[in-house]
Amino acid sequence: MTELDGSRIADELALRGVRLGPVLIHQQTGSTNDDVRGLAAQGAPHGAVVIADAQTAGRGRGAHRWHSPPDKNLYLSLLWRPRLESSRLALLALAVGVGVARVVDVHLDGPRARIKWPNDVFVDDRKLAGILVEASMSARGAFAVIGVGLNVHTTSFPDDLASSATSLALAGGHDLERNRLAAEVVASIVAACCELELAVEEGRRPVCLEDLARRDWLLGRAVRVGECAGQGAGIDADGRLLVRRADGSFNSVVSGEISLEVGRG
Ligand code: BTN
Repeated sequence: MTELDGSRIADELALRGVRLGPVLIHQQTGSTNDDVRGLAAQGAPHGAVVIADAQTAGRGRGAHRWHSPPDKNLYLSLLWRPRLESSRLALLALAVGVGVARVVDVHLDGPRARIKWPNDVFVDDRKLAGILVEASMSARGAFAVIGVGLNVHTTSFPDDLASSATSLALAGGHDLERNRLAAEVVASIVAACCELELAVEEGRRPVCLEDLARRDWLLGRAVRVGECAGQGAGIDADGRLLVRRADGSFNSVVSGEISLEVGRG
């Protein structure tokens, strides 16, 4: 397996027209999101990236951990100093999912990446990538840490993930060299987030939200979010999940853990 190499990734980013902050590599760290948060507090620039070969405390949303073994996958975090108002930051997390899904499609030769709202990337009804966006304040203003875990070469998962997780290798992906893949993921996220911010500023519907609608894995599925049960009915212009209840009324969900209602259509 090729080692992760920060200067190689920076070169690949420059080839794609992306010249942002430094790309730092750790052989092992607790969580790349924590590393980037620390860098942000020290005044690191927009676009600083930390990538780890392994994480000992990789986190997901809620109380979830992120399986982060060495030599196999991508665990990366990007510092984003948003131009969006804080009330619209949830849209940023949606754009990141779309950015990752677009790269996945390239390596799987077709539109196979779906998004389970808000931003889990699914292939073949299994989770391939997870995204954790954490917003904070520093002396330089608001910032977001965009964390992405992408399963690349893992072919066997711990028992609790074995039936729900997949990787690019398991899905039949090609050209899975991690340095190039890391640059593609960062460049695609940057493109999706920049497009989102510009569209919001100009009062247009962002293209990435159109793309998200086409990839909506929950559409038509029976879902439950807290007390609200119904059928996934799309994602609205503000990025909220729409749920159609049995009585035909709609509920729009801003955030929350989605569970699927087994056996209901
Ligand atoms: C989820 O699916 O709940 C989100 C998972 C996010 C995992 C990534 S791996 C890189 C970054 N560092 C972390 O600790 N978490 C994110």
